[in-house]
Amino acid sequence: MLRALFLRALMELYIWKCFNLDVNPVQIQGRCQFLSVMSGKFHLISKLGRIEKSIDAHCGAVLAGRWNYEGTALVTVGEDGQVKIWSKSGMLRSTLAQQGRPVYSVAWGPDSGKVLYTSGKQLIIKPLQPNAKVLQWKAHDGLILKTDWNSVNDLILSAGEDCKYKVWDSYGRLLYSSQPHEYPITSVAWAVDGELFAVGSFRTLRLCDKTGWSYTLEKPNTGSIYNIAWSIDGTQLAGACGNGHVIFAHVVDQRWEWKNFEITLIKRRTMEVHNVINDAVDLLEFRDRVIKASLNYGHLVVSTSLQCYVFSVKNWNTPLIFDLKEGTVSLILQAERHFLLVDGAGLYLYSYEGRLISSPKYPGMRTDILSAQTVSLSNDTLAVKDKADEKVIYIFEALSGKPLGDGKPLAHKTEIVEIALDQKGLTSERKIAFIDKNRDLYITSVKRFGKEQKIVKIGTMVQTLAWNDTSNILCGIQDTRFTVWYYPNTVYVDKDLLPKTLYENETSEFSKNPQIVRFIGNLITIRRADGSLIHLNISPYPAILHEYVSSSKWEDAVRLCRFAKDQTMWTCLAAMAVANKEMATAEIAYASIGKIDKVQYINSIKDLPSKESRMAQMLLFSGNSQEAETLLLQTGLIYQAIQVNINLYNWDRALELAVKHKTHVDTVLAYRQKFLEDFGRKETNKRFLQYAEGLEVDWNKIKAKIQMEIAKERERAAASPAVRASVTVQQ
Ligand SMILES: *[C@@H]1O[C@H](CO)[C@@H](O)[C@H](O)[C@H]1NC(C)=O
Ligand SMILES: *[C@@H]1O[C@H](CO)[C@@H](O)[C@H](O)[C@H]1NC(C)=O
Ligand SMILES: *[C@@H]1O[C@H](CO)[C@@H](O)[C@H](O)[C@H]1NC(C)=O
Repeated sequence: MLRALFLRALMELYIWKCFNLDVNPVQIQGRCQFLSVMSGKFHLISKLGRIEKSIDAHCGAVLAGRWNYEGTALVTVGEDGQVKIWSKSGMLRSTLAQQGRPVYSVAWGPDSGKVLYTSGKQLIIKPLQPNAKVLQWKAHDGLILKTDWNSVNDLILSAGEDCKYKVWDSYGRLLYSSQPHEYPITSVAWAVDGELFAVGSFRTLRLCDKTGWSYTLEKPNTGSIYNIAWSIDGTQLAGACGNGHVIFAHVVDQRWEWKNFEITLIKRRTMEVHNVINDAVDLLEFRDRVIKASLNYGHLVVSTSLQCYVFSVKNWNTPLIFDLKEGTVSLILQAERHFLLVDGAGLYLYSYEGRLISSPKYPGMRTDILSAQTVSLSNDTLAVKDKADEKVIYIFEALSGKPLGDGKPLAHKTEIVEIALDQKGLTSERKIAFIDKNRDLYITSVKRFGKEQKIVKIGTMVQTLAWNDTSNILCGIQDTRFTVWYYPNTVYVDKDLLPKTLYENETSEFSKNPQIVRFIGNLITIRRADGSLIHLNISPYPAILHEYVSSSKWEDAVRLCRFAKDQTMWTCLAAMAVANKEMATAEIAYASIGKIDKVQYINSIKDLPSKESRMAQMLLFSGNSQEAETLLLQTGLIYQAIQVNINLYNWDRALELAVKHKTHVDTVLAYRQKFLEDFGRKETNKRFLQYAEGLEVDWNKIKAKIQMEIAKERERAAASPAVRASVTVQQ
């Protein structure tokens, strides 16, 4: 429609190197288009351009109007200061607000439940729900002319007569403010995926990153650009200009880097691959225009409007090509084993051979709002945070696409904003880190052990995070501190050690809202809100330590720590050793950080009669009592399992096991009596009273029985290697 209106003077403009004069640059959605006019009416127009209905909406001009995300409601604002909500067919549903001054711009919130509109120098967010809290703040020093709200990143843009444009979060906190320009900013608009936005002013068109800094600036001879609309695939935009023209622009010059490869989209259908090692250049041509691409793990994945191309970096000549079902891919994520395509209809996991592996689904799925912050992929797991319930994360087994475990999503107490799976190590140890609305950083295991999923807080005021993909090292920015969690798993092993496994560097250099761009080796690149890059070096040793530990090279690990002479390294090693139940190394590492109590405890474990008991004690050491008990019961060490519960004062469980296995009931009762006597209390527990009836506690007998159990365990441990050997021989 926009085209039909302005086609009289379509002009060509070379923006971002390349411009497109395609027939259909502005995609028209399937529903009626909205058109505002000066008469106070708006018209509903069919796809074919026929006016279906004209509605008297405002006194004075209708200044703006927008469909909600579902296409079921329309909001209009006018010179009369009113904000009105209309049904799909143009019936007035409600007048959401009325004020004394004109409303220039309006936008829907991500869930279509709130409306953002301008009021002089103020921005106002008002929920549709009556009596819900209204958020209002002063956003500019001049009249606000435009505003926009992105459904993927939940960020708000505003543009004003004070010649500035700004980025806000949905709580009204300022994330970015531009320098004042020469002329008022007359338009701002988000690309659908929320990665970019465009800014229009007098003879000015700017392309900006979501954090605010500007990629490029063009000076077309068009008068002011009053309105900007992006195509749904986010590759091009149209601008309505003061001189009656419409300009079209196509985003090119995007870059992807991986190891020694640099890839640039030089034209709409052409990529240039530069191998920086031998300076070789390859050109990749596509049949249709490129919409999304991703380069990682030795593969380049490109989606065009119709197809998906998979290249191996070893061979740029013969890509694998398959047709896309739905069309516009909004997100590509890669793991080493497979990659994920997200489009408006679903999530599709493909192998690099182009085979569809799975297509996970969850209730109320809305894929158009997913981004790299809310979807995370590893070799074995896919995690998704959706808008319908922002407190949960859906976790799927990648191969089958089935929800993990009992199918219940991971639930947190507040809304989650960003998630990231770690990449290395065993599936059973897969961890997910996430940041919630309060900017607290948590970590948890994706698999559930026992009843509860232990979610542990490991940071506060975290603005951004990134895992390294070859070792499970996490880095993030906490307020003004750059922090590296060298071994986040420490919280599951010996929580008190965590602060000593971190690298922190206080710096005022970051300014507001910095983003981690890359985490390669020991070099971390951070982009500040003004677009400039900062490079930070971290110690290379922790990554090497991870490598030694993952291949069980404990002696090398100890040697490395001795060489590095760094308490952080020793602390990491202590935690890694406990996690891997490697007691000898744990003892050395704990001794090196002066934790003598832990050394003594480990020593006492070493004296235990069997490997199973030692393992169980190591599990207890790291707080996994449930697993310790399971291990003992599985290996038939019933008495030991009972004793573990006695030591933890889990009296009911101890008695339950004793009764079930018909052994050591008297032992449990004896310890219980002693415990109560020590505290001068009387038995009130019914089960204990019942079993104590007519039973005489004889400590000598009990001690003898315990001795016998230990002797038995020792004998069994001595015999078992032989048993195993004979089995091997028989094979
Ligand atoms: C992930 O999968 C790839 C390909 O199957 C494999 O080479 C790699 O070792 C896996 N990575 C991990 C951490 O398991
Ligand atoms: C913090 O970072 C600065 C700049 O990168 C560096 O010079 C300094 O040594 C770092 N401090 C610590 C304690 O690592
Ligand atoms: C992680 O670190 C290793 C080396 O320590 C490096 O080779 C790799 O590229 C890094 N991964 C990411 C995603 O930065």
